[in-house]
Amino acid sequence: MSDTQSEIGKLEEEIAAAIQGAADESALEEIRVGALGKKGSITEKLKGLGAMSIDERKTFGPMLNGLRDRVATMIDARKATLGAAALDARLAAEKVDVTLPLREPAISAGRIHPVSQVIDELTAIFADMGFSIAEGPHIETDTYNFTMLNIPEDHPARQEMDTFYLNPREDGSRLVLRTHTSPVQIRHMLANKPPIRIIAPGRVFRCDYDQTHTPMFHQVEGLVIDKQANLANLKWVLEEFCKAFFEVDEVKMRFRASHFPFTEPSMEVDINCSRVGNELRIGEGDDWLEILGCGMVHPNVLRHVGLDPAEYQGFAWGMGIDRIAMLKYGIPDLRTFFASDLRWLRHYGFATLDLPSLAGGLSR
Ligand code: DAH
Repeated sequence: MSDTQSEIGKLEEEIAAAIQGAADESALEEIRVGALGKKGSITEKLKGLGAMSIDERKTFGPMLNGLRDRVATMIDARKATLGAAALDARLAAEKVDVTLPLREPAISAGRIHPVSQVIDELTAIFADMGFSIAEGPHIETDTYNFTMLNIPEDHPARQEMDTFYLNPREDGSRLVLRTHTSPVQIRHMLANKPPIRIIAPGRVFRCDYDQTHTPMFHQVEGLVIDKQANLANLKWVLEEFCKAFFEVDEVKMRFRASHFPFTEPSMEVDINCSRVGNELRIGEGDDWLEILGCGMVHPNVLRHVGLDPAEYQGFAWGMGIDRIAMLKYGIPDLRTFFASDLRWLRHYGFATLDLPSLAGGLSR
């Protein structure tokens, strides 16, 4: 009898030690099954009560039931401790400092080049006025780049443009890197009937290199052809463009008589600006800055593409994209545009998702 009593005492000690030593909830569950489960050590002893005499049962019944209850209580307590510790560990491991700054995602680390930005901006402006985009190849025929634009073989403009020529072909004709976007006018008029209202932004090439010239640069051509398009319309379009592009309410423009073979009359356009120290401000002050060439399309050009100058007329312009980008964003040296210097791009570039629109703002 006393043997069994001490046995029970030993069992309790063992189980208690195991419970204290359980490292996690699953180890604890094993101990619970081993003691209180269907075949557990305590359960087995409780089953033995049935075979005992009434006297024995009076002694061992309360003893074993007490043991079972104490073990259950110890398990519950240990479980609570382990659960709290597990939660603490998880909270420590998964801690988030909500005050840390956001890590910049890869897409926002990229930058849009000012030339791409300005092309997007002027596209938004002219699209709003009903213009569509036309394109042409960088490698152009002499005919489209010069002849059909009323620049004959012996014309000085051919020399003035510092043309890059490709090697002569078998028939002696030479392809050129287009020196301006004006050949897109020819291509578009050959392929489309008036009314025509297009802009043609793109790369052009001339053999020239200094602070304001690079061998490759960008122009945007504009062309409007219908039965009535006139100089007043041209002026309005360019004024609206300048106000929208430079994001100012008023801009003064000066149309100076000039000469281009493909327009008659021809003009160069200046906008007013002020120079305070190093800073250039558009739309204020009494200084002038040339930004584009324009005019009424020459009757010979219309004839070359099969349009009757007695029926159709139109206006055109050509503007340097890099030039207006330098002006708007205060970039002093054109050569840096094409130097592929990441530090420059991070400084002058634009956020990738800020697409310019008239409604949302062009440059924000
Ligand atoms: N193509 C001229 C140039 O590159 C610019 C130009 C002037 C284009 C007058 C035009 C225009 O369409 O009408 O210097």
